[in-house]
Order: sequence, then C-alpha cells, then structure tokens
Amino acid sequence: MSAKDVIIALDFPTKEDTLAFLDKFPAGEKPFVKIGMELFYAEGPQIVRDIKARGHKIFLDLKLHDIPNTVKRAMSVLSRLDVDMVNLHAAGAGEMMKAALAGLTQPDGTCKPGSGRPLLIAVTQLTSTDGAALKNELLIDVPMAETVMSYAKNAASCGLDGVVCSPLEAALVKERCGENFVTVTPGIRFADSAVGDQKRIMTPANAAQNGCDYLVMGRPITQAADPVAAYRRAVKDFLG
Ligand code: C5P
Repeated sequence: MSAKDVIIALDFPTKEDTLAFLDKFPAGEKPFVKIGMELFYAEGPQIVRDIKARGHKIFLDLKLHDIPNTVKRAMSVLSRLDVDMVNLHAAGAGEMMKAALAGLTQPDGTCKPGSGRPLLIAVTQLTSTDGAALKNELLIDVPMAETVMSYAKNAASCGLDGVVCSPLEAALVKERCGENFVTVTPGIRFADSAVGDQKRIMTPANAAQNGCDYLVMGRPITQAADPVAAYRRAVKDFLG
C-alpha cells in the first residue's frame, strides 16, 4: 500500500501570493504541495527550492511530453530540484516514459538524495478532454475509460509509479495495475463546496474508499475563508 496524502495545488501567479498562502499555516504544519506550470513559468526553479527549504513535499506538475532524449535530459535536470513527485503525458508513449525514468535515476549525483528518485506519474487523458474530442480530434475510437486504463497499464509496464486520474477511475486503475500503483486524483470537492469547472468530482471520504492515494485539491482549500481549516478537514475526511 502506498502512502496517502492531500496535496494542495498552489495555483497562484506569483511567489508573493504563494508564500502569503503558505504563511497561514503554523510553523510545524507543512502540507504536501503541487507546483504547476503557472507558478513555475512565472518564478522559475528557485520557487521550488524556496518551498522545499520551508519543509514541504513537492509535486512538480509540468506534464512533460517530447521526444525520449529531450524528456530524459529534462527529467535529469528536474531531479536536481529534489522534488517528491514529477509527471509526464502517457501519450508520449513507452520509449519516452522509460527514458524519463532513466533520466530520474541515472547514477551521476542528479538523483534525489537519500531515497532514490521522485515518484514518476503519468497523465492519462486530461479531464478536460471529453468523449467527443477523443473521437473527433484525437481519432481514438475506444471509450474514455478504456483509453485511460490502457494508458495506465502501459505506464505501469514501463516502470512508472502511478497515474493522474479521475477519482472515479482510481479503483479500476488499482484493479488493473496493482494495489501499489499510485493514483493521484484531482477533481475533489467537499459536499458543500463550489464545483467550479470540475465535472467528475468526489468528496475526500469517498475518494479514500475508491482507492485514491493522493488527493490534489486547489480551490476548495486555497479559496476557502479559512484555508488551514479546509486543509485539515480534507485530511481528516480522507485519512480518518
Ligand atoms: O482547484 P481545483 O481543486 O479544481 O484544482 C485541481 C488541480 O489539479 C489544478 O491544479 C488542476 O490544474 C489540476 N488537474 C486537474 N485535472 C487533471 C490534471 C490536473 O484538475 N486532469
């Protein structure tokens, strides 16, 4: 069984906004956080180092997708940031996924010190891609769920640690890819929180029952009147 945690999506435009948010937490409380493209492109790798230095675990959500050699070299560079989780698009296919893994684990001092390497997670199909886009634009004729499971199995067979998927898909991913294959799930909402633009959602408690390992939560925590209380509520609902 893999570790379970709630990851806060730091979807803020600047370092100042991000640190102001993190400063709301007491000194001893260090949530696992996600740094995505907006913050990384705005502030560069130093934002990762700064947040790491504050004691947070970090999921660096840059969703790499390029030719195998480029992804391998990029992963090698990213591994120097000592993050805990990184990701790529499974659509880059097996050779690229294996190259990414090699880039993260090469024995030249660029691996995560101590514990080997960050978890390497594959994005299956983006939750913004619907059945019509899959069929009419990507020319994939099999249903969405089958596509997601096929991508997940391919990622597992390439040695990756898990996938980003909908919480509704997590149980089936576990069934197909094994209990230790990690499921990272956005689309989490409290029963009484605004849904926003997410479509296929689940509460933290239901996500726990459905085999989700890491919940990614943004707005229900970052936009809450009391973000620390909202985070603690999510952790309590999820982990019990
Ligand atoms: O605010 P909210 O809880 O919807 O934030 C979810 C986070 O998860 C965002 O950072 C979003 O980019 C990310 N995400 C997602 N769906 C995916 C992959 C990532 O919502 N399929």
